[in-house]
Amino acid sequence: MSLYESQSYLDQYLLFHYGSSLQIDPFQIFPESFLNFAKRSVTENLDTSKERLRALDLGCSVGRSCFELSRFCYEVVGIDYSNQFIHAAETIRVEGSVKYNSLQEGSQFNSYIAEMPEGSRPERISFEVGDALQLPERIGKFDVIHAANLLCRLSNPDHLLKKLPALMNEGGSLVITTPCTWIGEFTPMENWPKGSTLDWISTNLSGSFVLQNTQDMPFIILEHARKFQVGIAQASVWIRNS
Ligand SMILES: C[S@@+](CC[C@H](N)C(=O)[O-])C[C@H]1O[C@@H](n2cnc3c(N)ncnc32)[C@H](O)[C@@H]1O
Repeated sequence: MSLYESQSYLDQYLLFHYGSSLQIDPFQIFPESFLNFAKRSVTENLDTSKERLRALDLGCSVGRSCFELSRFCYEVVGIDYSNQFIHAAETIRVEGSVKYNSLQEGSQFNSYIAEMPEGSRPERISFEVGDALQLPERIGKFDVIHAANLLCRLSNPDHLLKKLPALMNEGGSLVITTPCTWIGEFTPMENWPKGSTLDWISTNLSGSFVLQNTQDMPFIILEHARKFQVGIAQASVWIRNS
């Protein structure tokens, strides 16, 4: 079974996407810039004052970035390989919230509620279980593509990068973030970048996209109340040329 179908990952990702600062960082030791990654990967990398038609969130997990995209994109398609992540995202979209548990220690859990962010537009969003490496033809083209911390979870990330030009309308914005955590469990070593991840993305996208911006984006995922996974995702923003 994929790790992303486990109960512990579902709980961790609901907290990661929807938890309050105090729930995610109970000892209040991390700066704000480490929190709310699934929101910041949209708001810090895209011009949210500019309305767009269609957005695609690949590897959307439990959906927070889709709710952020829905504030300025008229249609948002969120795709993830995990049935249970998409089920939770869809429950939040339809019912406005979902209950989950957050591991404190041993067999002690806190009960929390993940709530749809205020002001988001659920009627604009559709969540689908799907494979980013085998997107259906009917999916069409987009004005925004967001792929946060997905590349190094794919068996053949190169394949996705090569497909991106055909998925994007001219002038569209592509956001890729990755902590560059290449591990054989997800990506066979022969499919890892040979040099730096950013150079490899750039080589794959050159000719179709122009690099607009890069930034380092810290994030924390709470495993239990006293254990954190801290990462620094490398974000790059690309514009589809003509
Ligand atoms: C590290 S998580 C990142 C989730 C989310 N974008 C975020 O930033 O919190 C990777 C996500 O990619 C999904 N995923 C892995 N392989 C996939 C594939 N081939 N197609 C679509 N989603 C995939 C996983 O289920 C998981 O939700």
